[in-house]
Amino acid sequence: MTSGKLEDIKACVFDAYGTLFDVDAAARQEQEALGDQWKSISDVWRLKQLQYTWLRSLQGNYIDFWRVTGDALDFALQSANISDGKLRERLMNLYMTLTAYEEVTEVLERLKGAGIKCAILSNGSPDMLKAAVNNAGIHDLLDGVYSVASVKVYKPHPSVYDLAVTGLDLDARQISFQSSNGWDAYSAKDYGFKTLWCNRFGQAEERLPSSPDFQITNLREMLPILGV
Ligand code: LAC
Repeated sequence: MTSGKLEDIKACVFDAYGTLFDVDAAARQEQEALGDQWKSISDVWRLKQLQYTWLRSLQGNYIDFWRVTGDALDFALQSANISDGKLRERLMNLYMTLTAYEEVTEVLERLKGAGIKCAILSNGSPDMLKAAVNNAGIHDLLDGVYSVASVKVYKPHPSVYDLAVTGLDLDARQISFQSSNGWDAYSAKDYGFKTLWCNRFGQAEERLPSSPDFQITNLREMLPILGV
C-alpha cells in the first residue's frame, strides 16, 4: 500500500453493503427476538450471502441478490435452530432499507462539492439498491447506481467492474473504488481501479493478487487522500 495522495481522480465508486450500508443493522434491530446470538447470526448471514454469490458465479447459476440474501438468511437461522417465518420476513424487510453509516452523506457531499462524481457498484439488485439509497436520502448525490443484475454474474468478475467504467465513461485509473470488503478492494485494484480498502472491521490483509492503494477505517479518511 502507498502513502500520499491520489491524483486526477474523476469519480469515486462505492461498494454498497458494508461500505455505505450497515450489514448488521437488520439483525441489530431484531436483537430482542434473536437474543445474544444476534451478531453471530448476522455474521453467518453475511458470510453465507457472499459465499453463495461466489459459488453461483462459478456454477454459472445466477439468481438475484435478494434471493441469495434470503437463502443465506435461511441457512443462518437454521444453523441457530430458529424457525420463525414472521421473524424471517421482518429481517428481510429490514435488509431492504439498511441504514447508512453515519459519515456517508457528509462524505458524498464533500466529494460532489469538489467536482468528483460519485456512484455505487454493487451485487445488490436494482430494487434493493433503490430502497437503500432512498432510505438514506443520498439519491441526489449519486451520478450512477450500477448493479450486477445487468451482467448476471457477481463480484469480483471483471465484467462487474466494467459497468462503472462504461457507465461513467472514464478510464479505470481515473476511478477511486472504495470497499469495506477486502476481497472486493483487492480485486478492484487488480482490475485497474485506484482502490481504498475501508477496513471498518479490522480484518487481516487478504492473500490475493494486487493490494489496495490505501487502507482506511472509515470513509471520512478518504477525503484528504483525494485532496478534498
Ligand atoms: C456489494 C457487496 C459485495 O455491495 O457488499 O456488492
